Amino acid sequence: MSMITLALSKGRIFDETVPLLAAAGITVLEDPEKSRKLILPTNQSDVRVVLVRATDVPTYVQYGGADLGVAGKDSLIEHGGQGLFRPLDLQIAKCRVSVAVRAGFDYQGAVTQGSRLKVATKYTSIARDFFSAKGVHVDMIKLYGSMELAPLTGLADAIVDLVSTGNTLKANNLVEVEQIMDISSHLVVNQAALKLKQAPLKRIIDAFASAVPQG
Ligand code: PRP
Repeated sequence: MSMITLALSKGRIFDETVPLLAAAGITVLEDPEKSRKLILPTNQSDVRVVLVRATDVPTYVQYGGADLGVAGKDSLIEHGGQGLFRPLDLQIAKCRVSVAVRAGFDYQGAVTQGSRLKVATKYTSIARDFFSAKGVHVDMIKLYGSMELAPLTGLADAIVDLVSTGNTLKANNLVEVEQIMDISSHLVVNQAALKLKQAPLKRIIDAFASAVPQG
């Protein structure tokens, strides 16, 4: 029997994928928050879970390091989606990508005056497309985390980041000034694996599909 490898990231995506795995009869046998292991066994000897950074899930699946994975739409857009079959929007880990600025910063003024906007973000593709469609010139500053600090320290005028409850923005005296897009996590599958391991992958995809809330 060939091994099926599923790539997940720790946190919300892992937690909200557990019920979908249950629908496929799969139980992960270790808690990623307690174990330091990066390969987690499941109750099915031919299915294992690998833990990778959220932004690395598309890459692992693209190159066959994993047969399938669960990736946020944000990560998929930044990756580009090459080599990935994307059969399902899982409707989990929902949030949005938004523009935020320091409370009191005149964002509307800045974007209408035609001046350049300094934007700090991990999501440079999403930000570039969004501001170019608006005709706003930006100086893009690539960051890898703690984007909220950028407007507070003068590194940038605005950030483009994920917003869920809005608590992180509020705690840092930032305000959401534009919503760019809604985000949810998608199931992605390696295109070669889909042919070579068709039966076991189809079984998982179908079980996930039946467990996704419709509408
Ligand atoms: C995201 C995002 C914000 C936070 C927003 O970070 O970068 O910091 O969540 O959530 P809220 O609106 O509910 O406060 P995440 O926890 O995904 O981790 P990260 O910092 O590693 O991206």
